[in-house]
Amino acid sequence: MAFIPQEIIRRKRDGAALAADEVRFLIDGLTRGTVTEGQAAAFAMAVFFRGLSRDERVALTLAMRDSGTVLDWSDLPGPALDKHSSGGIGDTVSLMLAPAVAACGGFVPMISGRGLGHTGGTLDKLDAIPGYGSQPDNALFRSVVRDVGCAIIGQTADLAPADKRLYAIRDVTATVESLDLITASILSKKLAAGLTGLVLDVKAGSGAFMATLDDARGLAESLVSVANGAGLPTVGLITDMNEPLASAAGNALEVRVAIDFLTNTRVDPRLHAVTVECGAEMLVLGGLAPDVAAGRTAIATAFSSGRAAAVFARMVAALGGPADLLERPEAYLARAPVVRPVHADAAGAIAAIDTRAIGVAVVALGGGRTRPEDAIDPSVGFTNLAGLGTVVDGERPLGLVHAASEAAADAASAALRAAYRIGPPATPGPLVIDRITV
Ligand code: URA
Repeated sequence: MAFIPQEIIRRKRDGAALAADEVRFLIDGLTRGTVTEGQAAAFAMAVFFRGLSRDERVALTLAMRDSGTVLDWSDLPGPALDKHSSGGIGDTVSLMLAPAVAACGGFVPMISGRGLGHTGGTLDKLDAIPGYGSQPDNALFRSVVRDVGCAIIGQTADLAPADKRLYAIRDVTATVESLDLITASILSKKLAAGLTGLVLDVKAGSGAFMATLDDARGLAESLVSVANGAGLPTVGLITDMNEPLASAAGNALEVRVAIDFLTNTRVDPRLHAVTVECGAEMLVLGGLAPDVAAGRTAIATAFSSGRAAAVFARMVAALGGPADLLERPEAYLARAPVVRPVHADAAGAIAAIDTRAIGVAVVALGGGRTRPEDAIDPSVGFTNLAGLGTVVDGERPLGLVHAASEAAADAASAALRAAYRIGPPATPGPLVIDRITV
């Protein structure tokens, strides 16, 4: 049946439910150029105000998935599994999770993104490893996933290109903040990656995009229900982001956290807990563990035995990074010229943390971008960040700032002090707040 774009847009504008083939017509047209950017913008705005039913969201997700290559991992001797995080501060989970799941028999073709807003991106962290090629060609990507068990790489142009076009249009038409469009955008890329199972780590709290628990739950429920509706078995976890997940924020600094974690040199308990939980869910989804408890044990053992570390080392080397990164991280990871402690104005316990402000301070240090084309300074950020309830004083600082200059360190120190509130010691809430399986 021949459709007319403006008639479909009009129907959505007036609140009608669109049929799957109407949605597909628009997305196919956007991909091929027969639907204009103006029409796509009008459609996005109509969706923003009128919303989409679950069936419409599934249809949009599938149409965007099919706008480019859909990877097929059925030749692998095990399940293809992945995790998506809604973004946070000190969220280094992916770097340890992918090799741990691979060490347990899963295959993790992890296609990750760059930093967005105040949050860090896995790809920017990996780019802090000299020589690591985060844009391998398809043949190398496939062979590393098959031979090593995991490969963490960047988005490729042929994966869900309709999302790329629609996202660029949303970005400049005030339509990014639509739960329906966010859901289809995230999931179209995950579905195009050809996964067997997916875990979503939706952050809630002062450093999350979804600061309130209600908003985080809304996003998790939408993602889980649409992913399952589109045929991808998915579990959502809502995890705490009221303080940085690791005690460091910044690209090379977080890679160092991951290496220390994998080599059992210094294991951050919060990072361990979230990584183990995500890994356990992935193993269950992939049929590699009978239940979450068994999955937790398997992932924790992959870490304590050093098997996950060995997989990480092989992945880094296979993608062009140094073969001895784990033995000699200090020889490869950039170090900032200025490193100094940041003390609170008064001694006391940490009552609250504006976690988002810490992420913004990392961006201001040069560790993130203010324009898409900006280069990142991998060396800058914070380490030894105090957590909720920690007592700080003349001895124990709020953290260490790593900066390119004394002036940048001064500004970041002021920002870090402003991000911390001293008062009655906060008792951190549960790290894994909820599990969504709708
Ligand atoms: N991340 C995405 O990939 N898409 C969105 O719309 C929002 C976050």
